[in-house]
Amino acid sequence: METPVLVFIGFMGAGKTTGARAAAAALGVRAIDTDREVEQRIGTSIEDYFASHGERAFREIEEDVVAEVLETPPAPVISIGGGAIGSARVRELLARHTVVMLDVDEPTAWRRAGGKRRPLARDRERFAALHAERAPVYEALADAVLLDGGAETVRRAAGALRRIPTGVKVLWAVAGGVNYPVYVGDVLDRDFWPVRGRRFMLTDETVGPVYGERIPELTATFAMPAGEAAKTLSNAEVLLRGLAAAGMDHDDHVVALGGGVVGDVAGFCAAVYQRGVGVVQVPTTLVSQVDSAYGGKTGVDLPEGKNYVGAYHQPRAVLADPRTLATLPAAELAAGWAEVVKTALIAGGPLWTRVRRGEGIVDRDLVLACARTKLAVVAGDERDAGRRQVLNLGHTVGHAIETATGYARYRHGEAVGLGLLAALTLSGQPELRSEVSDLLSGYGLPTTLDPSVDHEAVLTAVQRDKKRRGGRVGFVLVEAPGDVRTGAPVAERDVRTALGGLMK
Ligand SMILES: NC(=O)c1ccc[n+]([C@@H]2O[C@H](COP(=O)([O-])OP(=O)(O)OC[C@H]3O[C@@H](n4cnc5c(N)ncnc54)[C@H](O)[C@@H]3O)[C@@H](O)[C@H]2O)c1
Repeated sequence: METPVLVFIGFMGAGKTTGARAAAAALGVRAIDTDREVEQRIGTSIEDYFASHGERAFREIEEDVVAEVLETPPAPVISIGGGAIGSARVRELLARHTVVMLDVDEPTAWRRAGGKRRPLARDRERFAALHAERAPVYEALADAVLLDGGAETVRRAAGALRRIPTGVKVLWAVAGGVNYPVYVGDVLDRDFWPVRGRRFMLTDETVGPVYGERIPELTATFAMPAGEAAKTLSNAEVLLRGLAAAGMDHDDHVVALGGGVVGDVAGFCAAVYQRGVGVVQVPTTLVSQVDSAYGGKTGVDLPEGKNYVGAYHQPRAVLADPRTLATLPAAELAAGWAEVVKTALIAGGPLWTRVRRGEGIVDRDLVLACARTKLAVVAGDERDAGRRQVLNLGHTVGHAIETATGYARYRHGEAVGLGLLAALTLSGQPELRSEVSDLLSGYGLPTTLDPSVDHEAVLTAVQRDKKRRGGRVGFVLVEAPGDVRTGAPVAERDVRTALGGLMK
């Protein structure tokens, strides 16, 4: 395979020039920046040219320069001006190369680039509008999105960025000092594996026989029973002893092939086996592809509570191939939609706009958008100290329902759906609650609690969860899609009312 040229794109202040230089240094090659090439061509600074000739004249020259560079790349790493993607010719040429987007949020971009000499960064409102307008264009063009475009992250990612299988998109995740790639798309069956070392696969008895062969060059395979009831310490022990008997050591890694249960248990085994070995998550359910495979929470249940034993252990890589969802039973797919709706409520914006249409189409972009939302939250708070708690939207009541019903009556996603409705009642959002309720029932998810469920047991589980967190942590409430508040104190009687709302 020919070595691809890396082209860095992104908004003003994203750090494209520095990023390209860092990548080039890591790869031992040269980098060029098209803004500098443009300045050489015009013989003055871009700011001065803009001021004397206007934006249109500048864009014409920029288009020519960038197109020439992309047609015959003079270096293996290139950074291009933030506005160059406005040209259709440039966008077309980008398809020949590996395009890397350095993500930057608007406030950070403004802090770095605003108010200074750059002609398009003088007025904050215009700057923000341009950011909102261009972000989806960069995203659509990118083969890889680096959620943190710092030079150190780029340096670590550089090698992997040159080996992205076609048709696959990469998100580069950062959490607690750990970096890892998330591959989304047709990534299985390609003879592609992102991590060195021997592979020890942990899976379940349903998924292993169907997809096990798609993991290349396995050293050993161990399967646990399928389903939440198997998420136990005793099953983890069986798997751990299997790994030990097979001679796994620190240079090896675990492959977690399956849904969220396998991901949590196998991730937990990887976290504790010999005090920690690597794990590559290969999620095969919608729940796991849009949520559980990312962020590094691993664990097992105790009869006393869900996920009562566990560890934070970030994966070395995630391979999410939506084609595996084709064999997923309809009820499991529906359970995944509850997590999608939750994620869309947290994200707001284009993801919510898409999800509220209720089309029920799962594709690479949906998985990517959900993964991106979760990873962006986790990046700022690996260990649930603050912002990460937004991801628990719907989970306080959801987990309590699961615990109170012995993990047997509802799937995790179904319980989360009910929990979301309770959270929207507590948020004082009757219209949004009704919209979400319609979405959930459209996917065949329950919107009322089975009358056999003991309310008091659910309330007790909510209280125990609160106690576990030192009584400090309140509910996650929704002001509006994209505007989610954590730690809201809620009186017991209001929780009762919200549960009552699930009885109708
Ligand atoms: N770690 C986290 O951050 C996090 C986040 C959300 C959920 N979770 C956990 O995830 C678990 C739920 O995960 P889940 O909903 O994926 O359930 P699951 O892992 O039990 O999978 C559901 C069922 O589908 C089967 N299956 C999986 N992939 C299949 C495929 N491609 N084709 C056919 N059958 C397939 C499984 O064998 C299982 O029977 C819960 O334990 C929950 O606590 C963890």
